[in-house]
Amino acid sequence: MKLAVIGCGYVGLVSGSCLAEAGHDVVATDNDASRIAALQAGKIPIYEPNLDKVLDTVVREGRLRFTSDCAQAVRGADVVFICVGTPPSETGEADLSAIDNVARLIAKESRSPKLIIEKSTVPAQTGEQLKRALHVYANNAGASFRVASNPEFLREGTAVEDFFHPDRIVIGVEDKETEQQLRELYRPILEGHFRCPVHQPNCPPAATPDFVVTTIASAELIKHASNSFLGLKISYANVLADLCERLGGNVDEVTRAVGLDPRIGGQFLKAGLGFGGFCLPKDIQAFIKLADRAGVDFGLLKETERVNKQRVDQLLEKVKKALWVMKNKQIGVLGIAFKPNTDDIRLAPAIEVIRRLLAEGAVVRATDPEAMERARAVFPGLCYSADPYEVARGADALLLLTEWEQFRRLDWKRIRSEMARALIIDARNMLRPAEMKALGFEYLSFGRPDPAGAAASNTSN
Ligand code: UDX
Repeated sequence: MKLAVIGCGYVGLVSGSCLAEAGHDVVATDNDASRIAALQAGKIPIYEPNLDKVLDTVVREGRLRFTSDCAQAVRGADVVFICVGTPPSETGEADLSAIDNVARLIAKESRSPKLIIEKSTVPAQTGEQLKRALHVYANNAGASFRVASNPEFLREGTAVEDFFHPDRIVIGVEDKETEQQLRELYRPILEGHFRCPVHQPNCPPAATPDFVVTTIASAELIKHASNSFLGLKISYANVLADLCERLGGNVDEVTRAVGLDPRIGGQFLKAGLGFGGFCLPKDIQAFIKLADRAGVDFGLLKETERVNKQRVDQLLEKVKKALWVMKNKQIGVLGIAFKPNTDDIRLAPAIEVIRRLLAEGAVVRATDPEAMERARAVFPGLCYSADPYEVARGADALLLLTEWEQFRRLDWKRIRSEMARALIIDARNMLRPAEMKALGFEYLSFGRPDPAGAAASNTSN
């Protein structure tokens, strides 16, 4: 099929590349001309493992191309994916102005029937607004529009794998024709006809993903409901960590055993600095606002948000309690990205932690395998180093804020020798308390008591 993808961010770039790999003819466009120029020159503006492999192949094979001319991209397509950003406005509600702008452009430029798909995360009933905008601004005979919702469930760092091997594909449609067209569009993914760069040369037998067909409003709600439930689980684990710190439990052991119940599941129960990124926090905020507007008080999510914001306060309390005076103390920061395997620092808890450390007068040195360039734009005066050992040198404390695998494998004996004071505050519960104590560190984390005080745990975690 001839597809247009509007918006070349995390969602648009991954979706456009993978749909081209699945055999479609894709034109991707963005209103940021420099981003399009970079992409046309083969430079990918985000760090997303495996995206380069897919994108290089489909561009070379002529199945994906980039243009700044959004009108031309729309005119040439049968199906248009809207993948533009829906950032939080000051009130916390999703800012849908980019969606509205694109809808008017599509309406104005189209001269033939088109299926318009909202892939950006949008509040329920946006589909209605989209249909109305397309209808009101349409100005060419022959143009007609069907609208569908097709929310994405891509995680940064594994987005390409998530696209090729989704748990489920959700479509919100209003008629059989649209359902059939989307089944056809996703057939290569459903049947495994694609070269997956993650499992080259061949994928494990792909479990056929569920293909969920529902209404547009339900599909829009499914996205918000999924993401906010993930946040709810994380905040639940973080309150358990608070309890463990006071009652002497070990939150890793508690959540591991709780997660063994298949009705609960072990993922997204990791306690620590909480959730960041450009999805979970803003989707929860938007969902709370949507519920408020609908006259429903989503207290569960307001509490989820409150607990999550509190994590940074709690980390700073641990640091202050250990250091007493923060002014002029050398503090090393390992990890800035909101999670490992991404360069994305948007709403990353580490950013707030660094801001607070600087406000207290501490001298901060930071490292991150991928996110330092983006961090420089936020903290230009900060001292950065690609070498964690340099960040540890002379430090009075070392804060582990993002659980990059590289940090687990550090030579912690050497780290200890570099530090002025062997104090580690592991905000992601990545390291093992007993091992760090044995190496002579003062070791703090979330919800895990000193091994000396705790019964030797027989669970391997
Ligand atoms: C999320 C959803 O997972 C994905 O389905 C959706 O499409 C987009 O939003 P993403 O934002 O890339 O994906 O990150 P995710 O892997 O969900 O992690 C979000 C945050 O939660 C990170 O800051 C991570 O550190 C934190 N997290 C995750 C925890 O604190 N504990 C956990 O157990 C898991």
